[in-house]
Amino acid sequence: MRLAILTGGSKGLGLALCEALAGRGYRVLEFSRSAPHTYSVRVDLSSPSGSQHIVAAALATLGGEHIEELLVINNAGTLDPIGPASRKQRDAILGNLNANFTSAILVLTEIVAHFQATKCRKVLANISSGAAQKGYAGWSLYCAAKAGMENYIRALALEQQAEPHPFIPVNIDPGVIDTDMQALIRGSSASDFPEIERFINRKEQGALVSPAIVAAAACRILEQPSLSYGARYEVGDHGA
Ligand SMILES: NC(=O)c1ccc[n+]([C@@H]2O[C@H](COP(=O)([O-])OP(=O)(O)OC[C@H]3O[C@@H](n4cnc5c(N)ncnc54)[C@H](OP(=O)(O)O)[C@@H]3O)[C@@H](O)[C@H]2O)c1
Repeated sequence: MRLAILTGGSKGLGLALCEALAGRGYRVLEFSRSAPHTYSVRVDLSSPSGSQHIVAAALATLGGEHIEELLVINNAGTLDPIGPASRKQRDAILGNLNANFTSAILVLTEIVAHFQATKCRKVLANISSGAAQKGYAGWSLYCAAKAGMENYIRALALEQQAEPHPFIPVNIDPGVIDTDMQALIRGSSASDFPEIERFINRKEQGALVSPAIVAAAACRILEQPSLSYGARYEVGDHGA
């Protein structure tokens, strides 16, 4: 089987990725809180150790079926809470960093360990953001987590190149997508997010790309035979 495992496939880009991958013949395993699909597993990534256990248990149910190709996508993400760093509450800080960073790494660790010896093409993609490379006032936690995940992928790529049956870790910048995440941004306030007007204008000018178009471009990137270990790909260069 061709197996795709991804987080955050309940809506937005992740949902479009699930549909695109299922349409391409992948068996999909999806992790999110709302877990809407027959192939979903319910998990709240704001709880790191719980997430790791749930993912480990789900992988154990896959059995020994032959895997021809494995695609892993760290897609789940949250901007919440938007606002100045000085006004953020402890639990909200931990929830954001756990979902965007700590649990993402725990989940990827579990998946890499489970399939390290599997002999097939294995690609591990982190859905990143422009916020990994640029600071945005009001998004300090998101920016920190996205930057951390990008560099985690680069380090993992160096390790994987020394493995006999490596994963190819890559970062993908999906551009600006018409999802609930953008709606959350437009629904914030200028005092919490000074650039809000620019994001409202983007929506009004039709500059947001549909999740289906971004997912198709991401699939084209991931299907390239010559993916580079640790590279950063932009969907805008691949038809989105
Ligand atoms: N939208 C954009 O313009 C944009 C731009 C750059 C990068 N990105 C990145 O693209 C990815 C997808 O974003 P999107 O725009 O599709 O966002 P979205 O519509 O808000 O969807 C986010 C997904 O993440 C899951 N998720 C969030 N918190 C979770 C938690 N605590 N536990 C488990 N799952 C959780 C959600 O599932 P549940 O709610 O069911 O848990 C949902 O499936 C994210 O990594 C985001 O940072 C988006």
